Amino acid sequence: MGATITNLTAHTGAEVTGIDLAAPVDPEIRMRLNQTFVDRGVLVIRGQTLSPRQMLDAVRLFGDVFPQHNTRFALPDCPEIHFISNQDKFPDGRRYIPGEGWHTDHSNDVRPPKATILHAVTLPSTGGDTQFANMTAAYDALPDMMRERLRGLSAIHVYQSSHSARQLMALPDAAKERVPNAVLHPIVRFHPESGRRSIYINPIRIEGILGLDHKDALPLLDELLAHSTAPRFQYRHKWLPGDFVMWDDRCLLHKANGDYDMNEMRYLYRVMLKGSVPI
Ligand SMILES: [Fe+2]
Repeated sequence: MGATITNLTAHTGAEVTGIDLAAPVDPEIRMRLNQTFVDRGVLVIRGQTLSPRQMLDAVRLFGDVFPQHNTRFALPDCPEIHFISNQDKFPDGRRYIPGEGWHTDHSNDVRPPKATILHAVTLPSTGGDTQFANMTAAYDALPDMMRERLRGLSAIHVYQSSHSARQLMALPDAAKERVPNAVLHPIVRFHPESGRRSIYINPIRIEGILGLDHKDALPLLDELLAHSTAPRFQYRHKWLPGDFVMWDDRCLLHKANGDYDMNEMRYLYRVMLKGSVPI
């Protein structure tokens, strides 16, 4: 029995059935999965039941584990794996919905992760979809004048942008020491595996554009975001129990939707994989 791989939209997403990541994976299938991930941006492997340790073994088929910034969310028995839960609260008691608003993960790192992987443990009965925007397709659709304008521009990424509507959970003091204050990344980056260009923006993390006044930079970032997140560039993932979903943070934005009954539990394991310096 081999893996069956089916495209989910014209440009983004592939569904994989017929494999069990808790068992050893054939090297040829491993190569196919890695290539499909690069080609399709989102890999949806259905029907998995993985303990945190088994998930850690499974993600190593695709790369090395990236140390996530906020250790507050680490699983005590397996700290390389973090959790995402809708039952989490800010210190003042407000509910914290991780991942709301378009973003790419941990772009405030010198070497941001190449991928994020979630494994669904408990899901609400409806809602809680994750949306993805294909930033390669969005770049390809830009008018020449805009591509010219973006050439050579770099954005300043910080842990929490002062322009972001979304508030992140504060970092513990120990984590602050290893998370940079600010890093510069190109607004258009090359994908190290596909060789294609993508728009690389992040409304939650970008504080500004180097060399531009906010009055020019902020409308430009808004325009790029509106362009990139148009429905024609999206794949919307509807979660099924057992889903193992891996996406490419180098060329996609994503967002969570807190549109379900918060009395229902939503809980997923999260791992990231190491990436390279964006160029
Ligand atoms: Fe995220």
